[in-house]
Amino acid sequence: MQVIILAAGQGKRMRSRLPKVLQPIAGQAMLRHVIATARKLQSSKICVVYGHGGDQVRAALPDADLAWAEQAQQLGTGHAVQQAMPHIDDDGIALILYGDVPLTRVETLQTLIEASEGKRVALLTVDMPEPKGYGRIIRAAAGSVQSIVEEKDASAEQRLVTEVNTGILCVPVTHLRRWLDRLSNHNAQGEYYLTDIIAMAVADGVEVAARQPAAVWETLGVNNKLQLAELERIHQRNIADSLMENGVTLIDPSRIDVRGELRCAPDVEIDVGCVFEGEVELGNDVRIGAHCVLKNVKIAAGTRLAPFCHLESAEIGAHCIIGPYARIRPGTTLADEVHVGNFVEIKNSAIATGSKANHLAYVGDADVGSNVNIGAGVITVNYDGANKFRTTIGDNAFIGSDTQLVAPITVGAGATIAAGTTLTANAPAGELTMARARQTTVVGWKRPTKRSQ
Ligand code: UD1
Ligand code: CA
Repeated sequence: MQVIILAAGQGKRMRSRLPKVLQPIAGQAMLRHVIATARKLQSSKICVVYGHGGDQVRAALPDADLAWAEQAQQLGTGHAVQQAMPHIDDDGIALILYGDVPLTRVETLQTLIEASEGKRVALLTVDMPEPKGYGRIIRAAAGSVQSIVEEKDASAEQRLVTEVNTGILCVPVTHLRRWLDRLSNHNAQGEYYLTDIIAMAVADGVEVAARQPAAVWETLGVNNKLQLAELERIHQRNIADSLMENGVTLIDPSRIDVRGELRCAPDVEIDVGCVFEGEVELGNDVRIGAHCVLKNVKIAAGTRLAPFCHLESAEIGAHCIIGPYARIRPGTTLADEVHVGNFVEIKNSAIATGSKANHLAYVGDADVGSNVNIGAGVITVNYDGANKFRTTIGDNAFIGSDTQLVAPITVGAGATIAAGTTLTANAPAGELTMARARQTTVVGWKRPTKRSQ
């Protein structure tokens, strides 16, 4: 089976510089969704027909397994398929998909492919109570499909038909090649209609089967930002449903956005307004508070995120407590039972078991041992304006509040750093180190008073 994806449409109604098929659903170009579906069908070839904005489309999809056919002028869907034919091998069937119809389910297409049995034409049709704009499916009295008539070419009687062409179909390649050669553009739109091959199949005695999808949204195309937003919501609801079917508790399934892959172990709970990007993995009993953004993150069992946390490219251990308002940046690993509190930023650092940074701290380029206490306002001074340096803190160290650790620097295990220290040399293990002006009191000092004039 080979797939031809029509993606030459300009999409003027998007009112965007981004070509229509690159407009995103769940953070990924619509065309990417269609290609992903085609790959799941184990197609031997995927050929994309592209048009205006083609360089941008090709650059966005550098995948080596795609064949590209240019349709410089949009002369109709039949003409578009003709451009793909030099890339298509003569055996088996071709499945025709659309770059702006992103949500068709794999199961639906499998049903269609099975219906073609390698020798029939198989059409995906839907019943539309308001069929305006769609090609109508014309059936004989006995029920067999005879032709597809475009709305602009249809008689008043034909326009009453509510069974419409989704555009998605399977055709045996050798027949397709022959029928495409016979297309003409003598119709109301002066276009080469792919849909004309249906009447040709009937005339040639090739059977035409029709199948319907489980849901109409599977066949909906996107022409403007309103339809893009509608399909985004449908897609997100589908993701939410499948998460809930797998045991995830969503406080409100209409208020979650997954733009990538979210894998959850049992009993995960996700509060409202969270965004998951890239690959996110959540272990048993993980709880994500409201309005968290997680990108490429792995979180082990039992960890809790309070609201408004932002985590990116990080690995978080089990039973950690994070947030509210914590920012965990790329290259961070937290071991088990680490606590990260409000307004704490951690970047490119490894923090071992049981350590805590509960308030207002910056930990960057650091290796922190276990059971370390990082006080409020502690800063790793990791950057001299040109280069970055690491900070190493041993197990059981206590870093007093408002300490600056000027890297490269090492704090030994069990060391205590007094509050307010600017540490510029290594602090030995087990000792108290401080660097601050000595406190003095001027006994009997009087505040100045206002001079009388
Ligand atoms: C087509 C079908 C119609 C069906 C409808 C479903 C034909 C003649 N008509 O309508 O029966 O109900 O889809 O939406 O096939 N495209 C190209 N090159 C072209 C023309 C179109 O690549 O020259 C692509 C578009 O980018 C789009 C798809 O084909 O992805 C459908 O084109 P569109 O103009 O939206 O559909 P119609 O031709 O009006
Ligand atoms: Ca058209």
